[in-house]
Amino acid sequence: MGSSQANKDIVVLNTIKQIRKQVKDLKSNNKTIGLVPTMGALHDGHASLIKKAVQECDEVIVSIFVNPTQFGPNEDLDKYPRQLKQDVEICKANGAGLVFTPSSNEIYPEDKHLTYVVPSEYYQSKLCGLTRKGHFNGVATIVLKLFNIVAPDQAFFGLKDAQQLIIIKKMCRDLDVPVKIVECPIVRDNDGLALSSRNAYLTQAERAKAITINKLLFKIQELYNNGLKNKEKILNTALKILDADIELEYLEFLNLDSFKETNLLEKNTLIAIAAKINNIRLIDNIVI
Ligand code: PAJ
Repeated sequence: MGSSQANKDIVVLNTIKQIRKQVKDLKSNNKTIGLVPTMGALHDGHASLIKKAVQECDEVIVSIFVNPTQFGPNEDLDKYPRQLKQDVEICKANGAGLVFTPSSNEIYPEDKHLTYVVPSEYYQSKLCGLTRKGHFNGVATIVLKLFNIVAPDQAFFGLKDAQQLIIIKKMCRDLDVPVKIVECPIVRDNDGLALSSRNAYLTQAERAKAITINKLLFKIQELYNNGLKNKEKILNTALKILDADIELEYLEFLNLDSFKETNLLEKNTLIAIAAKINNIRLIDNIVI
């Protein structure tokens, strides 16, 4: 398909009934469907997922839904950036044919006694799962609901949210969900900061501090390239890079296959960081 799809007309739908009808029509024409789940405030990271989906599938559906069940009580649900008009333009420019942007009531018509997908405790008990209790239950639940609504052949997720990606892949294996999960690399700004909808909260001064997060990760990669393998030794040098005003939540080395913490840096190690600047929480990672 490629870029020939870019700038074709785009259809924006709000209800499950409407999207199911479109999907049925597409499937009866033997079209393959790619889904890109998002919470909107789209940037080039999301755009890279849409582009990849356009390359792989006949039709691409982008969902835009700020999912309340994955936000904790003291998190940024209310102030999460919302810019639907601009988002639809980005979807269109990158070749998506459909945007699914339901209301909360459409997705969760019953607000009591909801059924949740609860991902494995093992995968939840690390990294973001430690401080964001229940977050991945909300993520897995909305993602499975979107899969049930859209029935995509493939779904596209960014490595930026590595734990989320791992949990979704595991959910699909464990529950026999017939969707191919496609991993997409992290897209960064020129200064190396991983693109995130939450970067919009940063002032210029905060942003200058924020880039020490990615600089720290790049330093670890450099130390590894120079032959250093021991976590403690690596951190002794690398942690000095982090701006003093940044509150480190975690900096973990995990084997990507076993998802187990490791003190030895080797191939296939995920180095994941979460940190706060004036209460703005950012995450980033690299894979050795
Ligand atoms: P959101 O934060 O909007 O991200 C949507 C998708 O874009 C995720 O797969 C995420 O990993 C990817 N993404 C974000 N920033 C990226 C970057 N800089 N480079 C590459 N990919 C990037 O993740 C969510 O929404 C939600 O949890 C969701 C899966 C939609 C469920 O509500």
